[in-house]
Amino acid sequence: MSIVYLNGEFVPKDEASISVDDRGFLLSDGVYEVTPFYQGVAFCLDHHLVRLERSLRELGILFNTEGLTDIHHRLVAENQLENEVRSLVYLQITRGVAPRTHYFPPEPVPATVYAYAKPWERPPEAVWSQGFTAITVPDERWLRVDIKTISLLANALAFQTARDAGADDALLVRDKVAIEGAHQNFFAVFDGTLVTHPESNLILPGITRNVVLRLAGEHGIPVEQRPIRVEELVNADELFFTGTTGEVRPCVQVDGEPIGIGRPGDVTVALSQAFLDLVQQTKEGVAAVG
Ligand code: PDD
Repeated sequence: MSIVYLNGEFVPKDEASISVDDRGFLLSDGVYEVTPFYQGVAFCLDHHLVRLERSLRELGILFNTEGLTDIHHRLVAENQLENEVRSLVYLQITRGVAPRTHYFPPEPVPATVYAYAKPWERPPEAVWSQGFTAITVPDERWLRVDIKTISLLANALAFQTARDAGADDALLVRDKVAIEGAHQNFFAVFDGTLVTHPESNLILPGITRNVVLRLAGEHGIPVEQRPIRVEELVNADELFFTGTTGEVRPCVQVDGEPIGIGRPGDVTVALSQAFLDLVQQTKEGVAAVG
């Protein structure tokens, strides 16, 4: 039985319960973060918490984030995940419990804070090195996806559409631009230049995206942040997604059309390796990534 955190207590999961009046349950009125741990060592936790604070601020949810770092580490320990190669902590904060109204509770109520930890796995090398497939799906999300809200219906519908089509990932398209994945950011390589959508209200500013952009700089890979039109994709040499549980995830086919050599390309492989090296250095305490 896993141990979860709920409103100040660490309890067995089946003893955790929330009110049916929780605004997260009724209105998706909340935010979340997913932070990776490698052999029990947090990767970029500070960056995740900074993004969380911004999400809370944007939604006007009053919550003091002091103490969240300890909660993350304690959850990993309580669930004996210190030796797990990969684990994660999911953290969700909602505006709290109040009778359902479309406006905020006139008297602020305490936020509901829920977190759990679990292991996850990177695909085996033989699978990763074949690459993954994607289909394009209309991006029907709202216009503030830079805020990491728990309102993920459009993401889930898009990902299900991809699965139903037999694809591994969904590539969300708005106004003929390939924006990002259902739960990952998106990159293309054209003639050796790494291209990704700039930060705006239309993408989530991914922590992994930021790490990869930094690694590209360190490896002398030119970077351009601009919208990528769907019609350009067939001319891309390489495509990949990035995200906490995808790390660097090669995309070798879009809508049935092979991309580049139809296998993960050199830039993707180099950045994936650089990412795994950074993870290793973080575990060894050589690199500090927050
Ligand atoms: N997803 N874009 C979207 C829409 C996302 O939901 C995510 C993360 C990302 C990548 O962000 P990061 O590198 O910070 O994980 C991009 C999380 C992991 C999830 O919903 O499970």
